[in-house]
Amino acid sequence: MTSPAIKFYDAHPGTGDLRREVISGLTSSPKAIPPKFFYDKRGSELFDAICELPEYYQTRTEMDILRNCTAELVRLIGPDCLLVELGSGASKKVRLLLEELRPSSYLGVDISKEFLLSSTRRLASDYPWLDVHAACVDFSHTLDIPHCETLDHKVSFFPGSSIGNFDPDDAIDLLLRIAEMMDMNGHLLIGVDLKKDTGILNSAYNDAAGVTAEFNLNLLTRIRDELDSDIDPDAFVHHAFYNPARGRIEMHLVSTRSQRIRIEDHLFELSAGETIHTENSYKYTIEEFAELAAAAGFHQQQVWTDESSLFSVQLLKTI
Ligand code: AVJ
Repeated sequence: MTSPAIKFYDAHPGTGDLRREVISGLTSSPKAIPPKFFYDKRGSELFDAICELPEYYQTRTEMDILRNCTAELVRLIGPDCLLVELGSGASKKVRLLLEELRPSSYLGVDISKEFLLSSTRRLASDYPWLDVHAACVDFSHTLDIPHCETLDHKVSFFPGSSIGNFDPDDAIDLLLRIAEMMDMNGHLLIGVDLKKDTGILNSAYNDAAGVTAEFNLNLLTRIRDELDSDIDPDAFVHHAFYNPARGRIEMHLVSTRSQRIRIEDHLFELSAGETIHTENSYKYTIEEFAELAAAAGFHQQQVWTDESSLFSVQLLKTI
């Protein structure tokens, strides 16, 4: 069986980037590793499992909002765009849009190559009328993608509140890159998780089944397996909490004992209780996000939320 033709652009960050960023992150103080490295094959599977958790309201809430806003969205955007999905992952959410929005082309952008290829291939076979492209890119560094440049009606889709992973200044930079990629003339449909009751937030990142803990710890398994390292994931525990002063969930891996770990020819000392900071997940009010978007030259054209104001889907337009 031949798989449907998709046009693929590979700028996959190899293990060199993992090695370099892990070593530099563990050299800095406090120790930190960027969350983009969660998403190897196992990590992407664990993240899919997180999205199904009862405590993790984000995915199902965003999907409900998307289902309810498509008609209005189609009126605001119109047909025949190039739809660029950032962090496309399993590409489930975009399926809610495709039938009604009827873009002429779709470009999936993700850091996880296997996931990206299998999901864009599935899209191409399920939507034969759609011209499907895939780019394996770390968009936290660049959005320079030599694809579909001829199409001028570009709409970016950045679901899942992945923007929350970026510190506000970096989030503005990323939004600027998105605006530039769209030639300062386009729409950005973005999922943004909202500030809410701290209890709801804390349990979303501390699920009873322990999937989020496994997701966090898998980063160490990945380092052990992909790099030359003696790191022992069992010597760490998951720790996640809402930091109200910074308006973000923080995830850490806490060293349960004093230990020395080796990665390639680097040695790192950790004291008992010392943490490796693995993720921030910023939460915004609608007004706060309007301000952030404005700093990148976007205005909030429309905002949709659920009944409990847990999550928002926002249509931003370049000014
Ligand atoms: C994909 C970044 C939106 O921050 O909620 C889920 C990742 N981390 N559980 C989030 C995540 C722990 C997720 N984002």
